[in-house]
Amino acid sequence: MVKNAKKEETLTLIDNRTGRSYEIPIQSGTLRAMDLRQVKIDESDFGMVSYDPAFLNTATCRSAITFIDGDKGILQYRGYPIEELAENSTFVEVAYLLIHGELPSKFQLRVWIQDITQHTMLHENIKKFMDGFHHDAHPMGILVSTVSGLSTFYPDAKNIDDPACRRLQVVRLIGKMPTLAALAYRHSVGKPYVYPDNDLSYSGNFLSMMFKMVERKYNPNPILEKALDVLLILHADHEQNASTNVIRCIGSSHVDPFSAAAGAVATLYGPLHGGANEQVLRMLAEIGSIDNVKGYIDSVKKGERRLMGFGHRVYRNYDPRAKIIKRIAEHVFEVTGRNPLLDIALELEKIALNEDYFVQRKLYPNVDFYTGLIYQAMGFPMELFPVLFAIGRVPGWMAQWEEMLKDSEQKIARPRQIYTGPVVRKYIPLDKRA
Ligand code: SDX
Repeated sequence: MVKNAKKEETLTLIDNRTGRSYEIPIQSGTLRAMDLRQVKIDESDFGMVSYDPAFLNTATCRSAITFIDGDKGILQYRGYPIEELAENSTFVEVAYLLIHGELPSKFQLRVWIQDITQHTMLHENIKKFMDGFHHDAHPMGILVSTVSGLSTFYPDAKNIDDPACRRLQVVRLIGKMPTLAALAYRHSVGKPYVYPDNDLSYSGNFLSMMFKMVERKYNPNPILEKALDVLLILHADHEQNASTNVIRCIGSSHVDPFSAAAGAVATLYGPLHGGANEQVLRMLAEIGSIDNVKGYIDSVKKGERRLMGFGHRVYRNYDPRAKIIKRIAEHVFEVTGRNPLLDIALELEKIALNEDYFVQRKLYPNVDFYTGLIYQAMGFPMELFPVLFAIGRVPGWMAQWEEMLKDSEQKIARPRQIYTGPVVRKYIPLDKRA
């Protein structure tokens, strides 16, 4: 019998195999899977385990970082609505908020910016293994390797129990991610590497490292610089998405944060996750014209393909980020000229939002549906789109990683399984096998 639990805050389970009943406490609307272990057929029974492939209905942690209401299309970082942060904040300030839990004071923000700025440089040896990649190596593959490689340049990162050491690695990764991304791009197009320009803003410096040519100093277009900064804000965290789940899982083995982040980058690379923004552009290019949209939608309804940039595990309504991104697109296109693929995207959205197939499945545009159009208009190649997502997600990954380490309920992640393999059998010597 559960002590002190009020009747209404328990679940009464009756095991019809034994007739026994159990009172399981309800905490924060959940039951602890470990409370199921008492449900046994007999004393030799290991006890009941919950089964939830892909964690469709499993909370793996308590977190105070990001709140999402999928039905209402609400997204908040540390309680601040994403719309207000996109309107009023900057990416580095949002990074501070996610990691520290509060908006910084003027002094704290100045120190934070200084800390990040002084860590934008990379060890010169990183250029050597960057040069080792083929010219057409996908920049996400390069990023997985180079982020992991940072762990070899900063062996002190292993001291994960030291808050000062954790903070140093966090500012290193936030500072160096754009430099790694720009190096991968410049390598792929055979252009000389551009060193960070610490006079510029975080986003302005990234644009400089990406696009500076022979001019003495790169001056980013302020509209594009602001648009990129807001896009990074929109990608900064998203509670327990696949790549965040991975950084928590890898981090739970107490490896350094760079190795854990490399796993998160690898997860984000997938076309069902951060790789979707690149696939959306490829899909729009494949559709080619508004006339082909209806036929494409029909093939999606037949299950022959997915409408990339649509659907979400949590949002059963319009992704609030997609709404903001659509507005950013208009500002960017005023500078760059309208991306012709936008008309195809708008037609896809118009048709999809009225088709039963999508309405019944509550499939709406997600964060990835419009970002690629903006990135392409800004001059980024398609392969770099998921890299831009990764740059934005670093503060969220770091905040979630540190929250996991400080959570006394957490330990090394090691799920159970339902074994479906053969029962025990004897080894057959090679000459006896059929
Ligand atoms: C991101 O988790 C996060 O928070 C992620 C993210 C973040 O900020 O970290 O928001 C970033 O990853 C956004 C999602 C980017 N991915 C895509 O746009 C790829 C296309 N979308 C999907 O493949 C899909 O919608 C997912 C992966 C996003 C969600 O998949 P779920 O929740 O596992 O849903 P599902 O695959 O079980 O689909 C449910 C039904 C299925 O139909 P039925 O089998 O019931 O008939 O909806 C269908 C699916 O076929 N469906 C789609 C679809 N997405 C789901 N059908 C057509 N096109 C789609 N895009």
